Amino acid sequence: MEGDDFTGDIRILGIETSCDETAAAIVADGCFVLSNVIFSQIDVHRVFGGVVPEIAARNHVGKIDRVVQMALDEAGIGLADISAVAVTHGPGLVGALLVGVNFAKGLAFGANLPLIGVNHLEGHIASVYLENAGFSPPFMTLIASGGHSHLVYVKDFTEFEILGKTVDDAAGEAFDKVARSLNLPYPGGVEIDRLAKAGCAKSINFPRSRLGDSLNFSFSGLKSAVLNFLNSAKMKGEDISPANIAASFQEAVVEILVEKSLRACNLKDCGRLAVVGGVACNSRLRALLAEKCAEAGIALHIPKPVYCTDNAAMIAAAGFHRFKSGDFADSSLNAVPGLRI
Ligand code: KG4
Ligand code: ZN
Repeated sequence: MEGDDFTGDIRILGIETSCDETAAAIVADGCFVLSNVIFSQIDVHRVFGGVVPEIAARNHVGKIDRVVQMALDEAGIGLADISAVAVTHGPGLVGALLVGVNFAKGLAFGANLPLIGVNHLEGHIASVYLENAGFSPPFMTLIASGGHSHLVYVKDFTEFEILGKTVDDAAGEAFDKVARSLNLPYPGGVEIDRLAKAGCAKSINFPRSRLGDSLNFSFSGLKSAVLNFLNSAKMKGEDISPANIAASFQEAVVEILVEKSLRACNLKDCGRLAVVGGVACNSRLRALLAEKCAEAGIALHIPKPVYCTDNAAMIAAAGFHRFKSGDFADSSLNAVPGLRI
């Protein structure tokens, strides 16, 4: 994007309710974050060990209007200062998505504002533009979240080529399931990250599923290997070290994510890698990426943690580029749980 595009004139209200975060944000020109309000339902779902879709939807209903008002207040503007309303319409939990989509529709049509439907994955990719003025395609992206593990070549702001994705569990899902087997609270990724710091990553050689030369990922074999390790130790009455298991498991996931991301960059002769999604918060992933990208001469871009996990600023940023290409939705916009990019 050219420097003169940053006038601060186009302000997008982003709304995100695809899973268990009720979020609203105002972003100017696709990169300047004027407000970023996130109401996390984690405490509500933790007692169940994971997100309960019906409860997530009900909590979105109870919070969405307040969260949107807070985003406007924090930015110090009113609806009259907004250029468009962008909302996640998939992929995600249908009941949760419907709350955001219907709220956005009502708001947009009531205030006579354009409406933009945003793909949640496109939102994650756009998180790399936040507070990163001037950063623009082409670049390679690894999306590693609770629901997805994708390698996407971003050709242009709204043009994507998927090079690989998980054939079973997403990286974050594997973190959460292994954490659960170690009796760690939900969401488990951050808990494994913390526990792994006290363990030795070389203590257990868990399998790495490379799937040959493919850029697809598979984490369910690794997850099963951890469960088998735990069951076998239990049957033999052996003591286990949760920290060593966490560190060794994390190392296996991180190694594969880094290896395939660099291979994808190589394949496309691309010197820039963005890493986004909740798993991009992982400290070992950040460290190994920094090391390997420096060795390979690849510029690494990882948004700050608050923009890696689900938020609405990334939805507003993606919405900005749809706005610029005139890609507006009408009142038929619907939630699409399996939406692809
Ligand atoms: O992007 P996100 O907030 O939601 C989805 O779109 O899925 O990602 C949530 C996922 C969860 O699986 C969570 O355990 C994982 O990101 N996560 C982490 C860390 N922080 C969050 N995984 C590993 N290490 C972390 N520090
Ligand atoms: Zn997400």
